[in-house]
Amino acid sequence: MGIVFMEELALKFQKICVLGLGYIGLPTACTFATHGIPVCGVDINQEIVHGLQNGHLHIYEPGLRTLVKSAMDSGNLSVHDQPEPADAFIISVPTPITKEKNADLEAVKSAAHSIIPHLQKGNLVVLESTSPPRTTLDVVAPILEKSGLKAGADFMLAYSPERVLPGKILEEIIQNTRVIGGIDERSAAAGKELYSTFVTGDILLTNATTAEMVKLMENTYRDINIAIANEFALLADRFGVDVWEAIAIANRHPRVNILKPGPGVGGHCISVDPWFLVEAAPDISPLVHTAREVNDHQPYYVVEILKKKLGSLADRKITVLGLSYKANIDDLRESPAIEITNLLIQEQAALTVYEPYKPDGFHGNARAATSLQEALQDCEALLLLVAHQQFIALDPHEISQLTKARIAVDMCGGWQRKEWENAGFHFYKLGQP
Ligand SMILES: NC(=O)c1ccc[n+]([C@@H]2O[C@H](COP(=O)([O-])OP(=O)(O)OC[C@H]3O[C@@H](n4cnc5c(N)ncnc54)[C@H](O)[C@@H]3O)[C@@H](O)[C@H]2O)c1
Repeated sequence: MGIVFMEELALKFQKICVLGLGYIGLPTACTFATHGIPVCGVDINQEIVHGLQNGHLHIYEPGLRTLVKSAMDSGNLSVHDQPEPADAFIISVPTPITKEKNADLEAVKSAAHSIIPHLQKGNLVVLESTSPPRTTLDVVAPILEKSGLKAGADFMLAYSPERVLPGKILEEIIQNTRVIGGIDERSAAAGKELYSTFVTGDILLTNATTAEMVKLMENTYRDINIAIANEFALLADRFGVDVWEAIAIANRHPRVNILKPGPGVGGHCISVDPWFLVEAAPDISPLVHTAREVNDHQPYYVVEILKKKLGSLADRKITVLGLSYKANIDDLRESPAIEITNLLIQEQAALTVYEPYKPDGFHGNARAATSLQEALQDCEALLLLVAHQQFIALDPHEISQLTKARIAVDMCGGWQRKEWENAGFHFYKLGQP
């Protein structure tokens, strides 16, 4: 198999292989399939492969179940545990950090290795996984060249970061501006040809290392901005200022846009990607490093605040509402809510956790509730850690009928003080002394 060259860069992708069928790879594979291109979806996790082959999904994302069914029904999507020959290979495997805060590129390397036996002249390989600067050139290209083919001369190679918002992945994968960085112009143009299959947003072409930097810069920018909001919350607590009011007023300045403080920064992107820059150039990234530390400290601050409000936490019956790293999703990776929960367990609190998007997701020493009613039973304090829509919409008067708890603690700015106080609760909100 090889790409059919219609003209110099009018390529026709007759088959695509997507490696990694997680939050990014699965929607990508399905979207290509529903746009008429045969896709071989590959995952090394046999459970995921068997599950998908039998119509079971291992992740939650709005609309994904329907999309996977359409892709399967179209006959264009098949799921395997190994790659097959294809015109284009897309790598969307995890790139976590190690305990030492270094990029763990093992999955990227093993995915690239698994392509080698199938790589042919004229193929395009695209790395989508968020990666440290120069990964495409210095890590992926040398592995693929073990096939005997030369990157640029024999096969094309590009980096295209995924910039979707969990919860809106299916829309954003199509509508967002897409960045494609080629190791040369031909690779970038081939990437554009490939993603034009379904992308309706602009497609911006650049080189591979710039595209890698773009992704890291976007998430680092977010991390630093959240860090300053978190630091403002601490300062406001110390000075007896309501940080929410102060931020709202400051944001009336035409050139100020302060983000919301919260219990910390999580997920496998914003809390991870800045470390890739720090690791690659520690001598010139003090701001990036410090912002990471500020945000990583926030869960400890939450526990400190709880101790100030409740005294000793030992045997206190606290119900944790929300465990995911952000609102309205089921993803618990690097979640500050999980970190806080573990810190509370260390304080010997008697915890109940309730994560409506993943009721069985917590495996520590806490009672995992499967419904709000169950979560509210036998509890003395409510701790809101994730602003899920269903939590924000809770009516404190109704809640007061369902629980004996009369303490409500809001660490993400989702509840209104007056409403909870009127319903008889002692209320505390982060940054609102
Ligand atoms: N999830 C997001 O919202 C998001 C957004 C932007 C960027 N990213 C980046 O995209 C990449 C993928 O993230 P994700 O959230 O989809 O991860 P994920 O953990 O949900 O899925 C990755 C999948 O890859 C599989 N895998 C691991 N090694 C493999 C290999 N050698 N061959 C085939 N499959 C393999 C795993 O079993 C897993 O199912 C990461 O670099 C992440 O940082 C994710």
